[in-house]
Amino acid sequence: MKRIIFRCLLVFGAAPVLAACQGEKSGGRIEPKLMADALHAVMESDRIVYTKQVVNRLQNEEGVIKASEHWKDDKALPLPAQMFRMGAEMVAEKKVGFSYSLLSMWPVNKQNKPKTELERTGLEFVADNKGQNYYGEESLGDTKYFTAVYADTAVAPACVKCHNEHKDSPRKDFKLGEVMGGVVLRIPMSG
Ligand code: HEC
Repeated sequence: MKRIIFRCLLVFGAAPVLAACQGEKSGGRIEPKLMADALHAVMESDRIVYTKQVVNRLQNEEGVIKASEHWKDDKALPLPAQMFRMGAEMVAEKKVGFSYSLLSMWPVNKQNKPKTELERTGLEFVADNKGQNYYGEESLGDTKYFTAVYADTAVAPACVKCHNEHKDSPRKDFKLGEVMGGVVLRIPMSG
């Protein structure tokens, strides 16, 4: 695999990314896989913290406020997936070349279906091989990308309940701990 120098994406400001960036400071090079794994560690942690400590706690345990798809109108909390997408959209606006999204083979929102061959293969792989990630390279337009796919797992009862009961969900038998979809990270490769 090619070795690539990445500029440090300090916008993420988190420990694993900083650790990954140290290679550049010392003149070393950072493997795209290490970069992708570090970025994913930050995203996954934020997503789990939001789901457990904000949504699950305030909605299901303390009954203070609900999470709703129509969170603005309902004066409610955004759903975990909406929170994730708002972050991804903000990163896309920064035009740093790096992008990410939350997809599934069984999406509530049809826009979250896999669109490229690699996305489809990766989502199937992480669903069938629990605990493993999927890595590959793909060319989209004139750019070659290192693309990584990570499982998105039902970490709280709220994940399963909401998807199984949602009118637009094509799948109604998700169980706690099961893979429900995946996070796709795309890093442009130079040269
Ligand atoms: C209260 C309802 C609710 C909860 C709780 C919830 N989701 Fe979702 N989820 C949705 C909705 C609605 C969407 C579609 C959002 C969009 O993109 O418009 C979605 C999107 C997703 C997607 C992208 C594919 C798709 O279905 O569109 C994945 C993967 C996903 N959720 C997994 C999870 C996991 C894992 C959890 C728990 C950590 C979780 N969800 C919690 C309702 C929920």
